[in-house]
Amino acid sequence: KKVVLAYSGGLDTSVILKWLQTTYGCEVVTFTADLGQGEELEPARKKAELLGIKPENIFIEDVREEFVSEYVFPMFRANALYEGLYLLGTSIARPLISKKQIEIARKVGADAVAHGATGKGNDQVRFELSYYALEPEIKVIAPWREWDLTSRTRLLEFAESHQIPIAKDKRGEAPFSVDANLLHSSSEGKVLEDPAEEAPEYVYQRTISPEAAPDKASYITIGFEKGDAVSIDGVALSPAGLLTRLNELGKENGIGRLDLVENRFVGMKSRGVYETPGGTILLQAHRGIESITLDRGAAHLKDDIMPRYAELIYYGFWFSPEREMLQALIDKSQEFVTGEVRLKLYKGNVEVVGRSSPYSLYNQDLVTFEEGAVAYDHRDAAGFIKLNALRLRTLANRDRKVR
Ligand code: ARG
Ligand code: SIN
Repeated sequence: KKVVLAYSGGLDTSVILKWLQTTYGCEVVTFTADLGQGEELEPARKKAELLGIKPENIFIEDVREEFVSEYVFPMFRANALYEGLYLLGTSIARPLISKKQIEIARKVGADAVAHGATGKGNDQVRFELSYYALEPEIKVIAPWREWDLTSRTRLLEFAESHQIPIAKDKRGEAPFSVDANLLHSSSEGKVLEDPAEEAPEYVYQRTISPEAAPDKASYITIGFEKGDAVSIDGVALSPAGLLTRLNELGKENGIGRLDLVENRFVGMKSRGVYETPGGTILLQAHRGIESITLDRGAAHLKDDIMPRYAELIYYGFWFSPEREMLQALIDKSQEFVTGEVRLKLYKGNVEVVGRSSPYSLYNQDLVTFEEGAVAYDHRDAAGFIKLNALRLRTLANRDRKVR
C-alpha cells in the first residue's frame, strides 16, 4: 500500500518510481540522502513532485556527518580492505541508506521499501539484509528483478510514455554505472567491462591523474584521537569536514585511484574503477599512528581479523552480531591510538614521514644502536634464539639422517 523508495532523482530511480505507482498502484514515499555524492538535492525534490509525489511524502536528508562518524570511521579503525585493495566505499553506505528507509517507513506507516540495485550485484544483498535485520516483516520490492524493462531502449520508452524528463546525455546508451559518496566514486560496466583494456581517463571524476599532479610534494599533519582523525594541520574538523578536506588534498595530488577485478558476493567477478582520495590518505595515516601506539600482539590480532571484517561489510552483514563483535574488539584496540602523523603527498603516492603520540610505545633508548637501556641485555638474546631454534635444529638433524 505504501512504499519507501531510495530515490536519487536520476533517470533509473525515476522510472522505478513511476513503475511502482503504475504496477503496484501504491503510494510512493521517496528518500534522498546527501552522502556527499556532490549533487544538489533540490532537483530531486522538484522531480519527485513532478512525478506526483505529495510534498509530505518527500524525504531529503543530509546524512554526511552520520555517514562518516558512524560508518566510515568505525570501518577505518579496522584498516578494512576487501581482497587487499578495495576501501569499501559503496559497501559501507548501503546500511545507512537502508536504516533511514526503515525509519521513514515506520514514521509514515509504510509496509514496503524499494531500491534501484540490479539483480546481479552486491548492492541488492546489502540493502535487503539491512532491511530485514532492522524490520523482519518488511516487504521488499526490487524492480530490476521484476520488471520487463530489460533493455535501455525499453527503459527510455517507458520514461517517455510517462513524461519522465530525460537529460540530454541520458538519451542514448548509458555510458557506465557510477556510485558516489563522500568516501569514494565507483565506476563499473560498459567501457570498463573488458578487464584487459585500460580505463579511459574520462572515467575518473574526482582525482587528477598522478602525471598531471604538481611536481612539488605537499606535507600535511593529521591528528588522531582514540583511532579517529580529528584535525588537519592543527585545525579541528568534524568527521565529514575532515574527509572533505582530505578528498581535496588527494584529488590535487592524484591519490586514491584503483582499477580492480573483484569477486562479488553473488559469485561473479566484476571490474571496477574506484577513486578514494581522502580514504587512501586516511588509511595510511591511521596505520602510521597505530604503528607507535599499538602493542604487537594487539596489532597482529587486528590484522588477522581484518579480512573477515571487510568481507562482512562487503557481503552486506553490517547489522549482524558477528560484525558487532569484531567491532567491539577493534574499538577496544583504539583506546591509545592518539597522536599525530605527518604525511607526504606526491604524484599519486601517500607516505608516512613522521608520527608522534603521548602514548607512544616506541622506545628510542631500547632500540638505539648506541649504548643504552639497562632494561635490555644483549646476552638474553642468545638464549631466546637458542630455544626458538630447538625445533629447527631437531628437524635439520632428522633430515640429515633420512636424506
Ligand atoms: N563493486 C562495488 C561494490 O560492490 C561498487 C558497486 C556499485 N557501483 C556502481 N558503479 N554501481 O561495493
Ligand atoms: C548493481 O548491480 O546494482 C550495482 C553493482 C553491485 O551491486 O555490485
